[in-house]
Amino acid sequence: MPIDITWLGHGCWLIAADEHRILLDPFLDDSPTAPIAAADVEATCILVSHGHFDHIADAAKVFQRTRAVVCSNFEICQWLGAHHGVDNAEPMNLGGEITLPFGRLALTVAHHSSQLPDGSDGGNPGGFLITIDGRRLYFACDTALFSDMALHRGVDLAVLPIGDRFTMGPDAALAAVKLIEPKFVLPAHYNTWPPIEQDAEAWAKRVIEETDAIPTVLAPGESFTLG
Ligand code: NI
Ligand code: MN
Repeated sequence: MPIDITWLGHGCWLIAADEHRILLDPFLDDSPTAPIAAADVEATCILVSHGHFDHIADAAKVFQRTRAVVCSNFEICQWLGAHHGVDNAEPMNLGGEITLPFGRLALTVAHHSSQLPDGSDGGNPGGFLITIDGRRLYFACDTALFSDMALHRGVDLAVLPIGDRFTMGPDAALAAVKLIEPKFVLPAHYNTWPPIEQDAEAWAKRVIEETDAIPTVLAPGESFTLG
């Protein structure tokens, strides 16, 4: 079963496999680089890695239209339920895994922060390890580099931030590729605004030169297919 992974700009991704549509960190209507509006995106499952606006902005809006199950940490699920009417959620916490219609979902460690847009405590930030049909996809989401990324060694796909300032930059993301040794790698969380502008093609060249991973630089709206 092919898995299509579409970059919707910034940290937002749509993972499509069979009838499943996994929307990760929906930030569309206020994103300068999103190729699609929140009103038009498909979703059967919505993942939210942490509480920052550039990851949670359109989660409730897409939920209200699609009724897609929302998966996030306990605090964010509580907040979405209490303030935004999200009554179909799968609360998780770091290190936990659940089974969903598409496969398995793990909430993984990320080193970052997670305050919600209204100042509420958004719990601990996370990343996601998604297992579909035997393929493992690791979305680091917003995080610093940390050596335990090696626990995800050998995943089929790693998606890593390269924007710097708020997350790993190109050097740290290259070190992450060396720890994770993914088959394929995609950069994210860059070129949304001037403070996180990066040369992704230059980074991909370094990945090719220094690792065995195969990088692909997507433009917002473009897809990578895991065959
Ligand atoms: Ni963040
Ligand atoms: Mn972010």
